[in-house]
Amino acid sequence: MQVIRTVAEFRRVRPTISGPVGLVPTMGYLHEGHLSLVRRARAENDVCAAWVFVNPAQFGPHEDFERYPRAEQRDRALLEGEGVDLLFAPSSDEVYPPGFDTAVEVGAVAQRLEGAARPGHFRGVATVVAKFFGIMQPQRAYLGQKDAQQVAVIRRMVADLNLPVEIVVCPTVREADGLALSSRNVYLTPEQRAAAPALYRALGWARERWTEGQRDARVLRALVQDVLDHESLAQVDYVSVADVGTLEELDRLNGPALVSLAVRFGSTRLIDNIVLGG
Ligand code: PAF
Repeated sequence: MQVIRTVAEFRRVRPTISGPVGLVPTMGYLHEGHLSLVRRARAENDVCAAWVFVNPAQFGPHEDFERYPRAEQRDRALLEGEGVDLLFAPSSDEVYPPGFDTAVEVGAVAQRLEGAARPGHFRGVATVVAKFFGIMQPQRAYLGQKDAQQVAVIRRMVADLNLPVEIVVCPTVREADGLALSSRNVYLTPEQRAAAPALYRALGWARERWTEGQRDARVLRALVQDVLDHESLAQVDYVSVADVGTLEELDRLNGPALVSLAVRFGSTRLIDNIVLGG
């Protein structure tokens, strides 16, 4: 695996690569969810590339940028073990040199849900993704369904800016008890970890009612909220039943819908979602 730290070096290497490049964007501290993206990217492309960059621009001033878990040696070994060909792992100064003053601002789809709870978050995501797509020039990029709104925002940006990258979305990988894998799960205390499967349980109830024929979005929202309210350690940020593409809240489900939620356990904020009818 070739590890590249600078934009100039990547630009030197990129023209020597032939065939489709599948890219897995990450902030490191890799888990099985990331590795499932790598395996798919490897299987579907001649060359598999990844980036590891904890992007300061997508963290709010009171968020966890400083304490975000990092494990560079371990990440490198995991990526190498999965057969990744190219790893781009630049420093913050390389990505945001003095004078850097451009941002990519996606519209309505980036303003709802996570966008409302974390102002500026998707501006930071879209900017770094646009920048790294430009540097790395992948044919395909592999993203996890767990960050469903991130997928919707990046898809909007790719379409609007005519970026020649196909976005491939891969299923959420879960622990045996249903908790979606996330680098932030490491923050949970044992008690919070024991309570956290409530997220997927609540989503499962929504799926069950939907399967039985319930199409009233208010009823499904209330049901999910009710399951979460029974978990005393969980503080609900939002429960949403929305259009999968635009993330506009629905009254009734007449097509595919994204049921998503954000829940705090102490200072740790977890998100999860399922698609109904997709
Ligand atoms: O999902 C993530 O890990 C990040 O938001 C991403 C896409 C790598 C951009 O920093």
